[in-house]
Amino acid sequence: MKHILEELEKRRDQARAGGGEKRVASQHAKGKLTARERIDLLLDEGSFEEYDMFVEHRSHDFGMQDQRIPGDGVVTGWGTINGKVVYVFSKDFTVFGGSLSGAHAQKIVKVQRAAARVGAPIIGLFDAGGARIQEGVDSLAGYADIFMENVLSSGVVPQISVIMGPCAGGDVYSPAMTDFIFMVKDTSYMFVTGPDVVKTVTNEIVTAEELGGARVHAAKSGVAEGAFENDLEALTQVRRLVDFLPSSNRDKAPIRESFDDATRDEMSLDTLVPANPNKPYDMKELILKVVDEADFFEISSEWAKNIICGFARIDGESVGIVANQPQVLAGVLDIDSSRKAARFVRFCDAFNIPIITLVDVPGFMPGTKQEYGGLIKHGAKLLFAYAEATVPKVTVITRKAYGGAYDVMSSKHLRGDVNYAWPTAEIAVMGAKGAVEIIFRAEMNDPEKLAEREAEYKDRFANPFVAASRGYIDDVIKPHGTRRRIARALKSLRGKQLANPWKKHDNIPL
Ligand code: HXC
Repeated sequence: MKHILEELEKRRDQARAGGGEKRVASQHAKGKLTARERIDLLLDEGSFEEYDMFVEHRSHDFGMQDQRIPGDGVVTGWGTINGKVVYVFSKDFTVFGGSLSGAHAQKIVKVQRAAARVGAPIIGLFDAGGARIQEGVDSLAGYADIFMENVLSSGVVPQISVIMGPCAGGDVYSPAMTDFIFMVKDTSYMFVTGPDVVKTVTNEIVTAEELGGARVHAAKSGVAEGAFENDLEALTQVRRLVDFLPSSNRDKAPIRESFDDATRDEMSLDTLVPANPNKPYDMKELILKVVDEADFFEISSEWAKNIICGFARIDGESVGIVANQPQVLAGVLDIDSSRKAARFVRFCDAFNIPIITLVDVPGFMPGTKQEYGGLIKHGAKLLFAYAEATVPKVTVITRKAYGGAYDVMSSKHLRGDVNYAWPTAEIAVMGAKGAVEIIFRAEMNDPEKLAEREAEYKDRFANPFVAASRGYIDDVIKPHGTRRRIARALKSLRGKQLANPWKKHDNIPL
């Protein structure tokens, strides 16, 4: 028996060694951790249970029969994050550059299926050279099997991808179909085709970093939901994110004990909105003052900054927050902000996370750039997402809620459950100046008369009371009591039941 146990340990050591000391040293020299070191940081200490560490590839081409490394370039299994079960796969760049063989793909598919069956989040750590070139079509088949599971798991369990090294070709599409992509600055990049192909096809000369580095995807393309300084920070933040999420669509949003008084007043909010309606203020201040312990996990903080999305807790319950940011482009809705918020709203709805919407929006962005880019279809995504969402929806209008954007931002008309407005709210088709210039065009040459009309319009519409008189606003609330009112609203909505009509699936304007 003793020698059998020794043999087992020997084989395990062999698998744990990955591609060997030299390649591990090279990985460290690049500022990157190994696949197993990353798992150790991601999961609760000692909780990782590895599967398939003895799996090897089955290729006989190009001398591969003589190069078999147990584990075959990916470490898979499950463990816990603050006690919550999660499944994980972590690409091992030290083994064939983390490239994907048929056997490697089967290991990933096994944990994907287990996560869906059990109802647990799945987290993929990427650091790889794409399809295993020596394997040909078996590698392509493996990718498709993974993609298939990504799609079947979408909306069933949270799927999170962390890009911690190269990620190209086949490797990019699996993360793209997951809920969140996080990248590590300077050491990771993502693209469909690399700089060499780009140069051949388009004559463009770009570096990998310029083409698909973390900053590019977190701030420009919006492909990544966040960029972190190093492996450690990325993994720590993923742990933080997982804490906000239910394990699957079968669970409600997590509720944990809160040490922040739900009835806490924030007197400073009474002066947050400036007297001049054209003056910006920071909507993040409202978020941080309203949520538990100012703990806010922002999604895509560097992209489409005119809308803020992220997770927080109110009275211990996880919520998704969507808020216009008057500080950036006056909080206008454009293509990027509509896409960003629509995807976030759909994630929250899929996973039973109540949505708090904070509104200060002057409308949709005018101009050819936006119209040519398809603003109509992209803006409709957000409208569609809010309308179909059946989770508790609580809305607070702080200032402007103009035009179509008023309807879109979780209005009563889109089944908003509790809709509040601050006394500073202006709910109208458009701002006073624009409105009078249209309806009193004949008086355009009489500035005095026009100013009079503008004042009249403001007096009539630049307030929340017309909407409140129709019941479109449930109450006009004092800003300092916003946390208490939202917390009470959420409590009242915990038993909410609402279902959309049966359909195979909807046809959201993609
Ligand atoms: C097999 C690979 C590999 C691959 C890297 N390696 N990529 N082995 N298949 N795709 C191996 C290398 O041979 C090397 O082995 C080790 O991994 C490390 O690679 P290096 O090149 O030394 O590392 P580095 O200089 O850091 O460059 C990393 C890299 C580069 C940028 C990822 O390796 C690279 O360009 N690889 C090829 C990428 C690619 O074209 N993949 C196919 C994409 S097409 P040794 O033994 O020396 O350590 C695709 C289609 C799928 O994915 C479509 C599905 C829909």
